[in-house]
Order: sequence, then structure tokens, then C-alpha cells
Amino acid sequence: MNRMKGKKCVVTGGARGIGRAIALAFGQEGADVAILDRNQDLARKTAHDVMALGVSACAVTVDVSDESSVAAAFAQVAEQLGSVDVLVNNAGIGDSGLVVDMSVDAWDRMIAINLRSVFLCTRLVLPGMISQRWGRVISTSSQLAHKGGVELAHYCAAKAGILGFTRSLAYEVAEFGITVNAICPGPIDTDLSAGLSEEWRARKRAELPLGRFGKVEEIAPTAVPLASDEGSYYTGASLNPNGGDVMI
Ligand SMILES: NC(=O)c1ccc[n+]([C@@H]2O[C@H](COP(=O)([O-])OP(=O)(O)OC[C@H]3O[C@@H](n4cnc5c(N)ncnc54)[C@H](O)[C@@H]3O)[C@@H](O)[C@H]2O)c1
Repeated sequence: MNRMKGKKCVVTGGARGIGRAIALAFGQEGADVAILDRNQDLARKTAHDVMALGVSACAVTVDVSDESSVAAAFAQVAEQLGSVDVLVNNAGIGDSGLVVDMSVDAWDRMIAINLRSVFLCTRLVLPGMISQRWGRVISTSSQLAHKGGVELAHYCAAKAGILGFTRSLAYEVAEFGITVNAICPGPIDTDLSAGLSEEWRARKRAELPLGRFGKVEEIAPTAVPLASDEGSYYTGASLNPNGGDVMI
């Protein structure tokens, strides 16, 4: 409790799934949270549930892949919350297809939402973090960044791109007291993974040492230390709550 008291946090894709669980975990630790999501109704519901924990929260509509939408959303965050201490780049989509059949549009959409967004959001919070000499940037990658996945080349490319971004930025901003890390979850029961075929899900379950998909509540506890002083010696790292899918 109170490991993040008074910290101002942004969680993209915080309306549901892993992002919602992280937003609630931050609220339980005393942080104020802005939920940035394209799903306004669900973002409001999550903000409401975070506020019920006795902290401030707001819901801001955004398309994280769109530069002007991101700029407008962060301007709103600055008005409602003040400067950002912790950014969680978590919004993402899932989609599958063989490379041989993949359209350029499907590729571009995946990269825009799952990777470009991380750059667009992060660069807006860095000036404030640099001037206050403290900040945390955490991005949700995936264990598939390490492992690859059939029909998931675009998804895996985006998630592996997040790891390269994370490591490079970690060098750039360490001197300002800013840490930059990634979380690489294994398969987690959310609406996103429910969109994959039952055949894919069954094959994946059979591969997992723990024999089951994870729960969002099993990912959120990884974000809290990375977002607080407790995790101050992690930077450029990726933490792997993945049910043993990739053992690194
Ligand atoms: N579920 C898994 O198995 C799993 C595993 C590893 C990594 N991840 C990653 O975790 C993150 C969260 O996934 P989840 O499983 O909770 O999915 P989810 O679909 O439940 O949640 C994703 C959230 O992102 C939002 N979003 C999507 N596109 C957006 C956009 N363009 N602008 C703003 N918001 C947008 C959605 O509205 C939704 O609220 C994603 O980056 C995903 O790739 C998920």
C-alpha cells in the first residue's frame, strides 16, 4: 500500500484487460491515474473504479496511433492531472495472418497501434520527467517478442520493436533519473486473446509449463515495482510473467 503515493500515472489501453488491472493496482498503491483509451465508456468505468480506491482518476479518449489525437490527450492529462511521473504504454491490438497473405494495411495498422504509439506517447512525457529528474516508462511487450508466433509476424515485430526502443531510451534518459522497462506477458485471458482461434489457444495451453493462460491480476503486480522507487535499479529490462512460455 502507498508505494506510489501521489504519483501521477498514465495507462494507455487502461479501459480493460491488463491495462485496467495495472490502473487499479496503481490506485491501490495511492497513485492518481489517467486512463487513455479509444473506448470511452469502458475507460470511464475503469476511472470510476480507480477513484473508488480514494485517489484521483480520469478517462481520456485517444487513438494512440494518431499523433494529433495523442497530443490532445496528453494536453488534457496535463490539465487534469499535472505532469506525468509514470507512463504505461499498454494499448494494443491482436490480429493474425500469414505473411504471404498479409496486406500492407494490416501490417501498418499493427505497427502503428502497437509500436508507433509507444514513441508518440513517450516523447510527450519525457520533457516533464527530465525537468523533474524522475520518471518511469513501462511498455507492455509480449513473450512473443522473444519467441515469435505463427501468423503473428506483424504482432511479434511490433513487440520486439518495443524492446529495442526500451533499451535505447534507457541509455538516453538514465542520467535524468528516468527508468525505461518492458513487461513481456505470456498468454493472458483477456478480450484480446479471446479473439485468437480456439485451435491456437489449445495449442498454446499445451505448450505452457503451467498449463493455463494467466490472469490480468498476475501481470499487474509486475508493473508496481517498476513504477515505484522499489524498482529503481531496473532499466532497459524486460520482466517476464509468462507462465514459463519463454525461460530467460
Ligand atoms: N492478452 C495477452 O495474452 C497478452 C499477452 C502479451 C501481451 N499483451 C499485450 O498487453 C496489452 C493489453 O492487452 P490486453 O490483452 O489487455 O487487451 P485488451 O484488448 O483487453 O485491451 C487493450 C486495450 O487497448 C485499447 N486500444 C486498442 N487500440 C487502441 C488505440 N488505437 N488507441 C487507444 N486505445 C486502444 C482497447 O480499447 C483496450 O481497452 C497489449 O499491448 C497486448 O498486446 C497481451
